[in-house]
Amino acid sequence: MADSAPVRLAVLVSGNGTNLQVVIDRIEAGEINARMVCVVSNRQDAFALKRAEQHGIPTIIHEIGAYANRQAYDTALVEILRNQDVQLVLLAGFMRILTDVMVNAFPHAIMNIHPALLPAFPGLHAQQQALEYGVRFTGCTVHFVDIGTDTGPIILQAVVPVEADDTEETLAARIQQEEHRVYPEAVRLFCAGKISMNGRRVRILS
Ligand code: GRF
Repeated sequence: MADSAPVRLAVLVSGNGTNLQVVIDRIEAGEINARMVCVVSNRQDAFALKRAEQHGIPTIIHEIGAYANRQAYDTALVEILRNQDVQLVLLAGFMRILTDVMVNAFPHAIMNIHPALLPAFPGLHAQQQALEYGVRFTGCTVHFVDIGTDTGPIILQAVVPVEADDTEETLAARIQQEEHRVYPEAVRLFCAGKISMNGRRVRILS
C-alpha cells in the first residue's frame, strides 16, 4: 500500500448500496488507500446504512425535510463533509441532484456512477432509455460531478452488450456487474494520485 495518508472518503447513498459495499470491501482488502469517514443518506430506510454499520463506518441521515430548498440542504451537507475533512465524495445511488453549493465546494472531487455510456442516456432510467433506443451496446460511466446532470468529466467506462430478450431489470443487473468493477477502480486511481485533468479530459497516470 502507498506510504501517503489514506484519502478521507465520504459516500452519499439513498438505496441498496451495492457500490458502497464493493468500495468498502476494496478498502478493507488494502487495495484502496482511503479511509471511509462517513456514509450519508437522505433516506433513513436505505439498506446502505446497514452495510456501513456492519463495517463500523459512521452514518449520518441528512433528510431534505428540515431545509427550505436544495441550496440550504447542500450548504448543510458541505458543512457535514468539511467537519470530517473529506477529500473525495462518492455518489452511490444518491437520488438527489447536487447544486452548485456542493459542486463548487469539491471541484473534481465528487464522483458518480451512471448506468449508461455517457453522454448517451443521462438522467433517470438509463437502462430503459437504452432498450427503447435500440442500442446494441450500453454500459456504465464513472465521472466527476459538475453542475449539469451526468455531464462531468469521464474517468472510466465499461461496455455491456444489450441482449435481444433483455428487460430493464436484466440489463441493469448486467450493467451493475461492471459498475462494481469500474467504480472501485476509479476510486483506487484517485486515492493513488493517478488522475490528472486536462480541460475536461481525464488522464490516468501509469
Ligand atoms: C447504480 O446502479 C448506479 O448506476 C446508479 O444508482 C445505482 C445504485 O445502486 N447511479 P447501489 O445502491 O449501489 O446498489
